[in-house]
Amino acid sequence: MYSKRVIEAFTNPHNVGVLEDADGIGEVGNPVCGDIMKMYIKVRDGRIVDIKFQTFGCAAAIATSSMITDLAKGKTLEEAEKITRNDVAESLDGLPPIKMHCSNLAADALHKAIEDYRKKQTEKRLVKSLDKNI
Ligand code: FES
Repeated sequence: MYSKRVIEAFTNPHNVGVLEDADGIGEVGNPVCGDIMKMYIKVRDGRIVDIKFQTFGCAAAIATSSMITDLAKGKTLEEAEKITRNDVAESLDGLPPIKMHCSNLAADALHKAIEDYRKKQTEKRLVKSLDKNI
């Protein structure tokens, strides 16, 4: 049912854990299966230099989390934003159709972390310009 790569990524996931000083955090959940995923990114010069995840979910959710962190590490934010659930599933040599939503969670968590990073940057810029004008 699962490809060899899915089983490898599930039994030996990469980048598990928390980034205490994360620049962006994305959290998503699937109300149907109850799985939850949290993605942390560290960004330098527009590039993801570190990434970690915490996933409470099925084997496919853990495997896709691991794979997306491998795919996103070292990429620019623009490149990382373009990673789709199909990219993740293909890198794992496919997922059973019933498990495709798990890869959706991984892509959504990454995109939300990037969104969170951008929001925080905008807020920082705003505070700086307000400070200047006071
Ligand atoms: Fe829901 Fe895998 S069964 S994320």
